[in-house]
Order: sequence, then C-alpha cells, then structure tokens
Amino acid sequence: MTSKKCAVLGLLFFVGLCWARVEPREVLLVIACPHLPRQARDECFALSDNVREQHRQLDLAEIFPGDYTLKVHVMHELFNYWTLLDALPHLQGQTRLLGARTEWIIWCQHNTRVASLRGLLEQLRRQDPGELSFHGHALYDSEATIIHHFSNYKDPQWFPYPMLSAGVVFTGVLLRRLAEVVASNTQNITLRSDFSIDASHELARFIYDNVSPDPHAGTPVSARIILKSASYICPTFASMRAPEIPNRGPRCMLHAKPEEPSAGLTATSRHLKERCVYTTGSHIYFAIKTCAKFHKERITIIERTWAADAQNRRYYSDVADGGIPTISTGIPNVQSGHCAKTMAILQLSLKDIGQQMDIRWLMLVDDDTLLSVPRVSALLSCHNHSDLVYLGQRYGYRLRAPDGFNYHTGGAGILLSLPLVRLIVERCSCPSAGAPDDMILGYCLQALGVAAVPAAGMHQARPQDYAEELLQLQPPVSFHKFWNSDPEYTYRRYLGGSLANGSAPLAAHKDQATAAPLHLLGLQPCPDGVGLLQEAGIESSGKHLDL
Ligand SMILES: *[C@@H]1O[C@H](CO)[C@@H](O)[C@H](O)[C@H]1NC(C)=O
Ligand SMILES: *[C@@H]1O[C@H](CO)[C@@H](O)[C@H](O)[C@H]1NC(C)=O
Ligand SMILES: *[C@@H]1O[C@H](CO)[C@@H](O)[C@H](O)[C@H]1NC(C)=O
Repeated sequence: MTSKKCAVLGLLFFVGLCWARVEPREVLLVIACPHLPRQARDECFALSDNVREQHRQLDLAEIFPGDYTLKVHVMHELFNYWTLLDALPHLQGQTRLLGARTEWIIWCQHNTRVASLRGLLEQLRRQDPGELSFHGHALYDSEATIIHHFSNYKDPQWFPYPMLSAGVVFTGVLLRRLAEVVASNTQNITLRSDFSIDASHELARFIYDNVSPDPHAGTPVSARIILKSASYICPTFASMRAPEIPNRGPRCMLHAKPEEPSAGLTATSRHLKERCVYTTGSHIYFAIKTCAKFHKERITIIERTWAADAQNRRYYSDVADGGIPTISTGIPNVQSGHCAKTMAILQLSLKDIGQQMDIRWLMLVDDDTLLSVPRVSALLSCHNHSDLVYLGQRYGYRLRAPDGFNYHTGGAGILLSLPLVRLIVERCSCPSAGAPDDMILGYCLQALGVAAVPAAGMHQARPQDYAEELLQLQPPVSFHKFWNSDPEYTYRRYLGGSLANGSAPLAAHKDQATAAPLHLLGLQPCPDGVGLLQEAGIESSGKHLDL
C-alpha cells in the first residue's frame, strides 16, 4: 500500500469516526408541560431534574454499546399544541429534537414518574428500534363513549390506547413517519373529528388509521399499528403488585403519579402553600342552567346530592318556578347551544352577587352535572381569584387550523373568577342565540388572551365513559349526564358525597326520583350544550364575535 493510499484511508477512517461522533444514536425523553397551573410546571422541572440526576449516576455505554446519548427536554405548550399530534411538527421542525438518529422517544407528562431510568433503558435495549411501534399502559373502553367519538361502537373493548400520564415509548421510526403524515396535511389523512377531547385515544386512532408499515402499499387491517401493552409502564406505582425482579429493581420503570386529594391544601411544599387561599363552598356562586322540562327530575337529584354543600346556588331557567325556585333568564329554550341563555345567566348572576364580598368564583353547570363542592373548593384554593382565571375540562376545536381554539366543556362545569365574569359580560357576545355556549366562551376568551387552564378531575361524561385507571388517578371533581346511570350512586361512589334528605321546597318531587331507577324514568339526554357530533357551523359563526 502506498503512503498516499494509506493517508487517504486514514483520512476516511478519521472522517468516519467524526461522523459517528457527530451523530450518535439517541434516546429522547420529552416532558410535555402545560403552561398553567404553576404546580404542573413545577412538577415538569422536578421530573427533568430527577431524570438528569439518574442519568449522571449511570454509564450509558454499559447499557447501549456504541455511541449513544440521552436528551431530556421540557416541551412547553405552544399556542394550542397540547396534543402530541399537534406538537409533532414542532418537535421535528424548529427545535430539531426529533432527528434521524433518534431511536426511542419517551413521552412523559408533568405527572409521569421515572422510577428507574436504568431499568427503562435496559428494557428499550431489548426492544426493536426498527419497528413502527409504541408502548404504554393500555387502557380500554368498557362501552362505546362520546368522549371517543363513539369509535368502534360495535366492539368498543378491543382497541387499546395509552395512559399518557404513565408515559409512552415510541420508536423514532414511528414518530418520524407520523410527523411526515401530519405535515403532509393532505386529504388522505383520516381525521375522525375536529374536536380534541382525549388526546391519547385520538393519537392511537390516528396512528391506526394513517400510519402503515409500508406507505406505498395498502395495509391490511391485520397489519395496522396498535399500542403494545408494556408491563414496565404502570398506571400508578402502587399498582405494581409483582415482586421486584432480582438485581433489576422495580418492575415499573415508568408510572403515573396520583394527585393528592386537594393537592393545594395538603401539599407540604412551602411555596405552594403560600400561593393558596382557604376556599369553601361559601366562596363559590353556582349558576345552574336548566329548562322547564327538567325542573322536576333533574333539580331533585341535585338537591339530594351536592346542593347541601352549595349555599349560593341559583337555578336559571326559561321559566320562573316559585316552588323551586328558578329564575327566568327571559330567553326561550332552544334545542342546542344556549349561548344567549348563558350570557344572560352570567349577567343576572353578577347582579345577584352584587356586593357580597365573600363570593370569589362562579361555577357554571348544567342541571345534570354532579360535583363535589369540597373538591371544587380545594381545586380553586390554589388559583388567584383576583386574576382572570378560566378553569375546567379542556377540549380543543380545530387545533391545527389558524382559527382553532381551546375551550372548557360545559357539562363538566366551568369555573370563572369574578373579574373574568365581568370581562365576559363586557366583551363577549353570541353570534346567534343557539350557538354552543361553551365553545363561544372559549373562542372569545382566547381572543382576549385568557388561557383555558385544564383542571384534573373534571368530567364531561359519566364514570363509565372513562377507564378505571384514570378515575383512580385523582379524586374526581365532577361528572355529567344522568342518562343510563345512577347519579346518586355516582355521587356516593366517585364524588365522596352522602345523600341529603332533600330540602323542604322539593319534598313534593322527591318520591318521584326515588321511586324508580333513573333509566326507567325515561330521562332524555338534555338538549344542552354543544352536541359533540353536531360539528357544523362554529367556524363561520365565530367570526361574528363582537370583540
Ligand atoms: C393520496 O391517496 C392516493 C390514492 O390512495 C394516492 O395516489 C396519493 O399519492 C396520496 N397522496 C399523498 C400526498 O399521499
Ligand atoms: C393575585 O392577583 C392580584 C391581581 O393580579 C395580585 O395583585 C396579587 O398579588 C395576586 N396574589 C397572589 C397571592 O399571587
Ligand atoms: C335524614 O333523615 C333521617 C330521618 O329523619 C335522619 O335520621 C338522618 O340523619 C337524615 N340524614 C341526613 C343526611 O340529614
């Protein structure tokens, strides 16, 4: 070999080495972090510090031979991008976090915990990074549910979707393919709904519908990609009953951290306590939206359940009924939407509250909303009622479109600080009387720069519409809909309530409610709020907002 050839080969070898050095293979741990509440943001940074600390204490080369790195990134919500699908283009674009050499992505939330980084990485080493796959704690529906767009309604129990708070592991090849599909934004994409309700189910469904092992061939249904159930990812740490694996530590490497009941009040963290203000039911004004046809059956149930804890409650209806009593809004009932009625309720409520200095919050609920007043109070205690605060169960509408927005869904209950109620009354109006009230509220508040802050534990549907693991993660705050369920059971079992004997004015109706199980009373689903399946009309109507 001539010295010249030798030099060239040497150079090539050196370049090769450098190449390998510049582009190591990588594990990326992303913490998807909401901007608010502050407590969630604090948890994101604590998790990030914890993972970095675990990283310092291990030698990656022992686990993955060759050049390998671990990157930890706290990804703050940008604009409306609280779902992975919406965040994905950002992950690949601007931040260049998701590169060609990213083999694994560990997707965490603020309430995910990494029990053992070493155990997790050892687990990943045993899995195939070349496969289009994702792994997590699999949740299943027990029946077809509105929150999952009634998908698989004939066989709702077969489809697994990940428990996001427990953490989800993706292969890089899957997320890169997914990013391509999302970015292509073509007509070819199957998107089941314009609504973002349960980001985890929607993600699993999107992958199932749109990502195929071979993009150039049609995919037989049997080859479609569904979540792989991973025993090392657990719903909670306590849920791991299996004994530890000898020499390998715990079986659960990733798990969800249950929220403490009334986190704000029991938290030991000093700075958290400083921010919290003792709040009880007497500080909250409950504005309950009803209509004449439901006065008897629904108000009776509220009076037997949570009303006892809600001194400041008013029933707003289309007709005044002295026997309850209800207050007339002067707005005729419509089949859907109720925007005009809700705006009238907020105005009338402000007038009614007047100078009662101890009322700090307004909670807007339906006549078939069940809630725990003590838990609502605990939730509110760590939010500043002097600020513009908008709390509830967050949904999204057309999040990827320029006119997309977040809103709190009405049935779960919407929490507003009083300064915010005043702002709404001043600045928001309805495009039409029957426009969907909760969506219009969200749209208007987004335009006014008030964020829809998600509150854990609030539910737009009934307990049976959610996976049990999710309900166990924190004490539920609210549920919605009496249809095909036993609201008194729900109240006792899930909301920690005990039944009242019923207040005097309602005694006449009481027997009716207790005489027969509710589903035998023929309760109709209320013509209320926005029918999730009636998706038409909002984008055009939104433009009429008087801002
Ligand atoms: C959309 O689907 C059609 C038919 O399956 C295919 O020919 C076309 O290439 C696809 N377009 C894109 C951008 O993927
Ligand atoms: C609550 O908000 C008000 C108005 O924005 C502010 O003056 C006050 O300092 C805040 N209180 C706390 C405890 O953050
Ligand atoms: C309901 O009424 C019964 C009989 O009057 C009484 O013994 C019981 O303590 C009451 N329960 C509540 C929760 O008020």
